[in-house]
Amino acid sequence: MDAMVVKKCLFPVAGLGTRFLPVTKEIAKEMLPLVNRPIISYGVEEALNSGCSDIIMITGRAKRSIENYFDRSFELEHLLKSRGKEALYEKMLAISNMAEILYVRQREPLGLGHAVLCGEPFCRDGYFGVILPDDVFIGEPPVMAQLIDVHNRLGGSVIALEHVAPEDVSRYGIVRSEVLSDGIHRILDMVEKPPIEDAPSRYAIMGRYVLSPSIFSILAEQGAGAGGEIQLTDALRTLAKREPVWGLVYQGRRFDCGTQKGWLAANVQLALEDPELRSVVLDVISVANGDNP
Ligand code: UTP
Repeated sequence: MDAMVVKKCLFPVAGLGTRFLPVTKEIAKEMLPLVNRPIISYGVEEALNSGCSDIIMITGRAKRSIENYFDRSFELEHLLKSRGKEALYEKMLAISNMAEILYVRQREPLGLGHAVLCGEPFCRDGYFGVILPDDVFIGEPPVMAQLIDVHNRLGGSVIALEHVAPEDVSRYGIVRSEVLSDGIHRILDMVEKPPIEDAPSRYAIMGRYVLSPSIFSILAEQGAGAGGEIQLTDALRTLAKREPVWGLVYQGRRFDCGTQKGWLAANVQLALEDPELRSVVLDVISVANGDNP
């Protein structure tokens, strides 16, 4: 096996999505639309365009709609074909042919670290990617590919970093690091959601990782952390003391679709960039502003 090839990508999607209730009472947040397709499809596309061919989703009982979305729907396909809607038929077929996806149940939402641990039987043979799909990244090359590139050059694990505003520091895991070269940091330590006065930097950990399989034994031995959950950040701290962990200040844009405000902003922004939808958004805004026609 070539240790430098990252082919597997884990998608932890078993979280409860409490910040997005009540809609997430019945609908997986990953299935909410970002313009005209579900949030999850952006992450899957990113993984495939980064060279990952094996997708493993860690799901929970409320997430069946994700499996259905990537599966074939014979009834719909038959209906579209019989009504001569060939283009739509092809589009539906392409979704189910997008990737080979394996689904693993996390029986209880015991935290992101626990969700990653559920992927161990499928990912223990080499470095693997992790995508938290409610953080939607748009970049060229794709952000996961940027992380894999650092792994291919330097070895070790890689996490995506963003330099955040001081008022946002307390929302994220923040790293203490040494700058190695432009955009690449060696991670020394990290702290979850610190107040700005205690923060070791303003570099925040975002939802993309390339991880060493050593993370699994660390997670298995680690007890529950903040909020009674098994925290990935705690395991990454231990990993960084044992093996190289690099931080990459990624190139591209990020849309935080795990909150109502972030999701709404992402939809407005992407609609403004769509030639057909731009005028719809601008018309609504101009009416709301009471502008004269
Ligand atoms: P979040 O912190 O966004 O939690 O999880 P959440 O439950 O999805 O949403 P809120 O905070 O209640 O609104 C980060 C990622 O980890 C996954 C989530 O699905 C998300 O992709 N996760 C979290 C799991 O898969 N299992 C868990 O037990 C917790």
